[in-house]
Amino acid sequence: MKIGIDAIAMDTPDFYVDLVTLAKVRGDDPDKYTIGIGQDEQAVPPSSQDIVTMGANAASQLVTPAIRASIGMVLVGTESGVDASKSAALFIHQLLDLPEWVRAVELKEACYGGTAALMMARDYVAGHPDKSVLVIAADIARYGLATAGEVTQGAGAVAMIVKAEPRLITIEPDSVYRSTSINDFWRPIYQDTAIAQGKYSTEQYLAFFQAVWDRYQEENKLTADNFAGMTFHLPYTKMGKKALDLALPKAEPQTVKRLKERFDASTRYCRRIGNIYTGSLYLGLLSLLDHDATLQAGDRIGLFSYGSGAVAEFFSGILQPGFSDQLQSAVHARQLDERQQLTVPAYEALFSDKVPYDPEDYRPDPAYFRGQFVLTGVVGQERLYEKRP
Ligand code: HMG
Repeated sequence: MKIGIDAIAMDTPDFYVDLVTLAKVRGDDPDKYTIGIGQDEQAVPPSSQDIVTMGANAASQLVTPAIRASIGMVLVGTESGVDASKSAALFIHQLLDLPEWVRAVELKEACYGGTAALMMARDYVAGHPDKSVLVIAADIARYGLATAGEVTQGAGAVAMIVKAEPRLITIEPDSVYRSTSINDFWRPIYQDTAIAQGKYSTEQYLAFFQAVWDRYQEENKLTADNFAGMTFHLPYTKMGKKALDLALPKAEPQTVKRLKERFDASTRYCRRIGNIYTGSLYLGLLSLLDHDATLQAGDRIGLFSYGSGAVAEFFSGILQPGFSDQLQSAVHARQLDERQQLTVPAYEALFSDKVPYDPEDYRPDPAYFRGQFVLTGVVGQERLYEKRP
């Protein structure tokens, strides 16, 4: 039985800051941001948007009556959870009015949480072939104003339906994964911004890629030449580019050309949105599918997931007949093009307006309400969400 991703959708805030403008304000060379880091724009979430609203906005595009009838689990991978106890999956379950006879759980392991959810969904469908699973990977990457990590912030969600006989892409049973406890990036529970050992984290990302890629090739008797495209966890696009370079030394010249071109296609959304942690790899997959019209059914796509701390996994998927019918490229292009650019002071004001995990009551400014689902307030430490008409 084939198991994989039947449909995929994204959501990201309707506000962004231009990184050339930000570089100038910070006194940095804009080329460092756009070439050295490889980022052009950065999504900025207003305080009415969090992982629940973005996750619900993405997932609502996928929950058809057939999916609603077959859903067995709702899994949310995130490291920007809104509560230390109650899972974001339950808030989203309520907002989407999903049936009560499901499991709803949140998973955490830094940026790897989305892949953990996807693999758990895959295994569940193997045991329950008539069921589907809603997988959501949503995050807000926050490092702080004028920090080294600022240029690698971002916000967004990717939702996927995992089921048997998927219409988009299979998840092949070829995974290689590795876990080792290291301190390259973390966020203490009392902080709303992450701590990164920046250079060390990039070295570890590459070392983990090399390790799982070498083992993957050995165990599966596959090389880069067997891949039509490769997608990577993208904390920023230059990071994935460096990992791709590690996969290419022994590849045929046409493979190098193909994988580099398709890598560029896979980075288009990240360049405009930034790091969305758990969702970044899947945003890269969506970007590749939306921007490369030459891909064909039967093509093998590689996926490299990395979550600091750290867990990494390399696996592949095979594109299915008619896969392009499932794509919404024009909708995504419009969504990004219609975003409102913020000045740097406006971005800084939104960043500091109401920081996550502040227990004080507040009501987000309705001027920033966008999308179907919004956070309308935190009152008595309870989060209040609303579905807008
Ligand atoms: P930095 O120290 O500001 O930057 O931090 P840099 O000095 O290392 O420069 C970055 C690149 O720009 C370099 O290129 C420079 O040469 C180049 P490279 O040598 O790497 O190829 N550069 C220029 N290029 C053109 N024109 C110029 C120019 N100047 C410099 N004028 C860093 C960069 C990424 C470390 C920082 O932004 C950071 O700490 N970010 C957060 C951590 C991070 O993203 N780590 C990535 C790996 S860990 C991961 O992926 C997991 C994560 O997603 C979290 C999770 O799992 O939950 C982060």
